[in-house]
This record gives sequence, structure tokens and C-alpha cells, in this order.
Amino acid sequence: MTTAYQAQCEQLQQQAKTWLITGVAGFIGSNLLEKLLKLDQIVVGLDNFATGFQHNLDQVRQAVTPTQWQRFSFIQGDICCLADCEEACTGVDYVLHQAALGSVPRSIENPIATNATNIDGFLNMLVAAKNAQVKNFVYAASSSTYGDHAALPKQEDVIGNPLSPYAVTKYVNELYASVFKRSYDFNSVGLRYFNVFGPRQTPEGAYAAVIPKWTAAMIAQHTLFINGDGETSRDFNFVDNAVQANILAACSTDPNALNQIYNVAVGGRTTLNELVELLKQTLAKHGVNHAHAVVYRDFRAGDVKHSQADISKIQQRLGYVAEFDLAQGIERAMPWYISHLQGSST
Ligand SMILES: NC(=O)c1ccc[n+]([C@@H]2O[C@H](COP(=O)([O-])OP(=O)(O)OC[C@H]3O[C@@H](n4cnc5c(N)ncnc54)[C@H](O)[C@@H]3O)[C@@H](O)[C@H]2O)c1
Repeated sequence: MTTAYQAQCEQLQQQAKTWLITGVAGFIGSNLLEKLLKLDQIVVGLDNFATGFQHNLDQVRQAVTPTQWQRFSFIQGDICCLADCEEACTGVDYVLHQAALGSVPRSIENPIATNATNIDGFLNMLVAAKNAQVKNFVYAASSSTYGDHAALPKQEDVIGNPLSPYAVTKYVNELYASVFKRSYDFNSVGLRYFNVFGPRQTPEGAYAAVIPKWTAAMIAQHTLFINGDGETSRDFNFVDNAVQANILAACSTDPNALNQIYNVAVGGRTTLNELVELLKQTLAKHGVNHAHAVVYRDFRAGDVKHSQADISKIQQRLGYVAEFDLAQGIERAMPWYISHLQGSST
């Protein structure tokens, strides 16, 4: 049976649209770029390389044909500068707004920087996209918005108090987007990502996500550190599922589906202890055996203990199907991890 996503991809291939991806040199942004170019779309990318990399763009270039790559134009610019946002939005059908300073601990250490990019920058992008009359503005929201609300699985309309400055910024994005509908009739869709992982997610730095960080440590035969007792759980989601959610959200014209917030996840829950085992087993299948101990240390401030999404809303309204579960995603990402994480300093 053809899924809504397959049908949408076929339609796009027949009629190319112009897309703006902010944060295009980052992890999720570069995966969006690769998919859209493979669908023969015209793509504008905006990034200031705050946490993104030229090598992510180089890898996309290698993954697409020269003709597809020619349909991509890059603007090195900052979403905190309205003129950069206006330039990037010119002539665009859909915006996929990914640029932000991620990471809960980064926001606790430097709330001003996180606020400037994630709130002021976000507002610049909304204003520029509205003025350029883009059809739809899809933006990266976050599961951190559920904050201290303990019930599982998380449903979009029930949130708790934010636990970090980062979570505040992502919630403010949702408020601004909804106000832009009410004030200017401007369409948007917020995608609350739950722990996305996959190729091009950096293992480097103090704010690295757990999957690339641990995989790199295992490849390098280093000790693994777990914050807490390892029973913290997450709904880990392979990046291709997040790419699907963006494309379905952007292209939707259904009034019932637009101007909504959606969880983007698999709907599963895996503890960090289980994740370590899965990574070990998958690496072993690829000839890498990690024999080092796992060291437990203190819980990290601002982290929620458990996270799991209810994905029925995005399934029903956008026709999303989580194509890859955690194990399938890890398996698909493993060749990239092995060829790119070797020798990383983690
Ligand atoms: N990765 C996850 O699990 C996850 C979960 C929830 C939400 N998100 C959100 O998804 C989005 C993408 O995250 P990611 O994991 O790809 O992170 P990333 O750090 O790899 O990508 C973010 C990109 O935005 C760019 N950027 C940052 N500040 C900018 C600015 N002022 N102007 C222009 N570009 C700027 C960075 O250089 C980088 O390329 C972010 O909004 C993040 O908050 C990610």
C-alpha cells in the first residue's frame, strides 16, 4: 500500500517546489537537504555554522547528483539578523526552520545565547516568512516542552512546567507560531522532536547527543559514562522519520492538519541501559567489540527522567508512519558511524 509519504514524494518529483532549510549545515537540516535534493527540489539553505559543519554539506553533495546539487544555494547568515532571514525567504514555498541552539545543558550555562537564537531568531524567521508569503512554516519544536509533566505517553495538549531555558524557548516558539495564525493568518506546523539520531549527528563537544557520543566512545574503546542509574528512558527516533514528518507537514493543505503541534517519534521507550546493549550488539555485528565498563555518575540538571510520545495525532492528521524503529535506525546509521566516528576525540 502506498503511504501518504510515498504519494507526497511522487507528487513533489512531478512538480518541484522551492524550500528554505534553516540550520541546513546541522544534523537534521542536512538530512532534510539530502532528501529534498534527491526529490529534485529547489533548496535554499541558511546557516551560520554555530553548531553545523561544512563537512555535512560536503557529504550531501557526495550523496546527490551534480544536477541535484546545482538546485541548492547556500546563504551563510544568521537568523538573528532580519535581513539574512528576508534574503533567505525570498521566493520560497515552504520553510523548514531547524536553526537553533540545541541542548538543555548549554541553555542552563548560557541562557542568553539560547534565548537570542531560539526566540529572537525564531521571531525574525516568522516575520520574514510571513512577509515573503511562504505557504507554510514548519519548525523544530521539542519534547522538552513536556517538562515536569510525568504522565506517559506524552500527548500534545498536556504539558508541564519547563525544566530548562531551552525548553522555555521551544515553548515560546509554539506560542509565537499560534499568534501568527491569529494575528496574520500565517500557517505553520510545530514538530516536537523526540531524541532524533542518525548520520551527521556530531559526537563531539560537551553537548553531544548520547547515541553518537556513545557509539564513538565504543569505536574508540573508551569508557562509557551514564548520567544517572541508566533507567532514564527516551523515545529515540531515526532521522528519516523526522524528515518524513517535515515533508508531510509542509505540503499539507488540510485545515485540520495545519497550525498544529505534533509529536515526532516512534512511540517507543528505551532505557539508557538498554540502549548501551543495543549499540554494543549492533557494533559487534559490524566487527567492533567494546569490552569496557560502563561508569554511572550523577543525573544531569534539567533532564526529564522518562519520555515517550503518543504519535496518534500525527498519524491521523498527516498520515505519518514511523518507518524505522530504534533498532532499525541504529542498523541503518551504523555504516556511517563506523566510517565517520573513527578517530573522533570522544
Ligand atoms: N536532535 C534532536 O534530538 C532534537 C530534539 C528536539 C528538537 N531539536 C531541534 O531540531 C533542530 C535541529 O537540531 P539538530 O539536532 O539538527 O542540531 P544542530 O546543532 O546539528 O543543527 C542546528 C543548526 O542551526 C545552525 N544555527 C544555530 N544558530 C544559528 C543562527 N543564529 N543562524 C543560523 N543558523 C544557526 C547551526 O549552525 C546548525 O547547523 C533544532 O531547532 C533543535 O532544537 C532537535
